[in-house]
Amino acid sequence: MHDFRYKSGKLYCEGVSVEKIARKVGTPVYIYSKKTLRDHYRKLKDAFVSVKPLICFSMKANSNLSVCRTLVREGSGLDVVSGGELYRALLTGVNPQKVVYAGVGKTEKEVRQAIRARILFFNVESMPELELINKVARSMRRRADLCIRVNPDVSAHTHHYITTGTEENKFGIDFHAAKALFRRAKDFPNVRIVGLHVHIGSQITIAAPFKKTIKKVFSFIDANRLDVKYLNIGGGLGIVYDKEKPQSALKFADAILPILRKRRGLGIILEPGRFIAGNAGILLTRVTYIKKARRKRFAIVDAGMNDLVRPSLYDAHHTILPAHAKKRRREVYDIVGPICESGDFLAKKRRIESLASGDLLAVMGAGAYGFTMSSNYNSRPRAAEVLVNGGRFSVVRRRETYADLVKYE
Ligand code: LLP
Repeated sequence: MHDFRYKSGKLYCEGVSVEKIARKVGTPVYIYSKKTLRDHYRKLKDAFVSVKPLICFSMKANSNLSVCRTLVREGSGLDVVSGGELYRALLTGVNPQKVVYAGVGKTEKEVRQAIRARILFFNVESMPELELINKVARSMRRRADLCIRVNPDVSAHTHHYITTGTEENKFGIDFHAAKALFRRAKDFPNVRIVGLHVHIGSQITIAAPFKKTIKKVFSFIDANRLDVKYLNIGGGLGIVYDKEKPQSALKFADAILPILRKRRGLGIILEPGRFIAGNAGILLTRVTYIKKARRKRFAIVDAGMNDLVRPSLYDAHHTILPAHAKKRRREVYDIVGPICESGDFLAKKRRIESLASGDLLAVMGAGAYGFTMSSNYNSRPRAAEVLVNGGRFSVVRRRETYADLVKYE
């Protein structure tokens, strides 16, 4: 599942102890395993081999150039959601014909940038967006390919902040409107609708909502006799943060391949983010103080909600492990950051072996939506990022400095 393991009581990422990384690079620091990234990509690729999908790693989960490049070298494409991500994508050396572009608010400038880059297609989320793409493509004397993102109105049974495929969400176009859009397509000669896109949410641990969604999409295709080249089934595969029992890549493939295989010749696209990167990374932080209050024990650490916002924002559970297991007595702590907000915590009421100032803690499952959602709140320089490869590691993003904090002012 991942390559963070204890050897003689010390936590290692592949062949490197995380203590060594802390000593050389400081904390807080994000540490990623190259092997885990590759393994997860391959697992998905192998599970779906019979339909030869294009796997586009979703850069919003982790857009570090070295992380993305690792996957691109394995053959991965990239799913981008902004001009900034597209810029990063192109720097990885990805073939632009393996880049897909989603998002409800693409601007004219971003559309132009993507057409110029000759990406594979846009995932279009509204009629006005389609009109804009057509207009921009016309002005560039080009034709842009599009997938229509339909909103299948399927509940993904996940946190309401990360469910996207129900009618309450801003994402996609309902089937009724999508039908009208297909009918009007001929009015837009500078775009070509090549497929359909769905993405119903994130951290989904069961196959049923995916199956239901894909079936709905095929009924739509059949009822309207649509001629589509691609079906983009989005991302959303859940991972283990705590006690979840998510489907493996194989189980997921077993559940949906029988439906997909009936449609020979249809190009299948997957956009996993968390599945590939989530368990491939940790956030390593050091305990600054232990503060004992009347009712509570706080471990105040040097990483805050600006470094990892998921616990504060979604009440997300991340397993926290000591970098050096000393088999001490266990105590209950709130593990909190230095930020001036009560919502600044990494874990609450966590039973963990007794902590002391200077101890290192590994926040597990932080490889996706960790660094990418980090900020400079409280004028805190953002953490360094490190990529481990076997017995070596390299800093793939240096720690920000105070000068970085003010350089645009
Ligand atoms: N494709 C589209 C169109 C998406 O919107 C997303 C994620 C993905 C693919 C990748 O989904 P994944 O395979 O990673 O589940 N910040 C939240 C997650 C937000 C997901 C947004 N969209 C979190 O930390 O849980």
